[in-house]
Amino acid sequence: MTAKTPLEPIASRYTGKDIVSLTQFDRPSVELLFDTITQLKKRVETERMLSLLKKHIVGLFFFEPSSRTFSSFSVAVKRLGGNTLEMQEAGKASSSVKGETLEDMGRVMENYLDAIIMRHPEVGSVEKVARAVSIPVLNAGDGSGEHPTQGLMDMFTMLEHRKSLDGIRVLISGDLLYGRTVHSLLFGLSLFSGVRVTLLSPERLRLPAMLIDTYRSRGITITEIHSESDIPADCDVWYWTRVQKERFDDLAEYERIKNAFILTPELVKQKGSDTLILMHPLPRVGEIEPAVDDDPRAVYFTRQVKNGMYTRMALLTMVLGAL
Ligand code: NCD
Repeated sequence: MTAKTPLEPIASRYTGKDIVSLTQFDRPSVELLFDTITQLKKRVETERMLSLLKKHIVGLFFFEPSSRTFSSFSVAVKRLGGNTLEMQEAGKASSSVKGETLEDMGRVMENYLDAIIMRHPEVGSVEKVARAVSIPVLNAGDGSGEHPTQGLMDMFTMLEHRKSLDGIRVLISGDLLYGRTVHSLLFGLSLFSGVRVTLLSPERLRLPAMLIDTYRSRGITITEIHSESDIPADCDVWYWTRVQKERFDDLAEYERIKNAFILTPELVKQKGSDTLILMHPLPRVGEIEPAVDDDPRAVYFTRQVKNGMYTRMALLTMVLGAL
């Protein structure tokens, strides 16, 4: 059981690697992943169930609530013929209640499992476990840090829509301070050229200046706006996000800003192009009016969710060397 160095670059060799951050990826690695997602998607559409992971058991340890990500990982393993060990509410159900460290939990679990999928409220917690164990660890969200599998499925959804991520123009709205899906997505998009991103958020929830500098230095053209009237007319994607209530100490402050920017049919009509798609990592809690759901450009309950399962299937088979 020799612990590996986590945050190792993927460099197109997935077997045995952790998926902790989009900073581990380069463009060829992402493109290889996209090819695998496309292949698996085609296979699942005809065969429904595959057997690539029939010799594997994957553990899901979620210390924060989740419906979509948990289910999508669980179903991804099962569609690949694998088994799961599932712990939701792991903060209450695991020995962490007795004071066991996450690293020790990982050290025990790696004797039973082939890979660990983990979500936890603390930034850096998943990396800690990855450092302690030798089996692949996948980050299903670490606090307001990153959510790499969500970032990758979002990029794949954009690619399917537009055929190329080079030159893509994306509006990202909502909680850019705490929104981990946004942090991962921007690292991912920065691997492509000519990417232009407009950020729309309340002042309090702006993307941290350090991250803006990092993304800019990685080549993204970033413009910050604070009013819907400044949304550029030619976006390919609007990526809307929820204000992350669970990260606020002061709930009155959350209540004041939670509905700063609401996606309405009128806004889409005024500012949206015909070739736009509307995305959201979900759950939505009021920031997209239900009337928008019927717009054929809305993909947040359809393609985007489905691609999550295929993306996780691809990543699991790749890190487990099972393709
Ligand atoms: C996101 C998350 O948990 O970060 N949800 C998800 O994984 N689909 C976004 C969110 O909770 O707002």
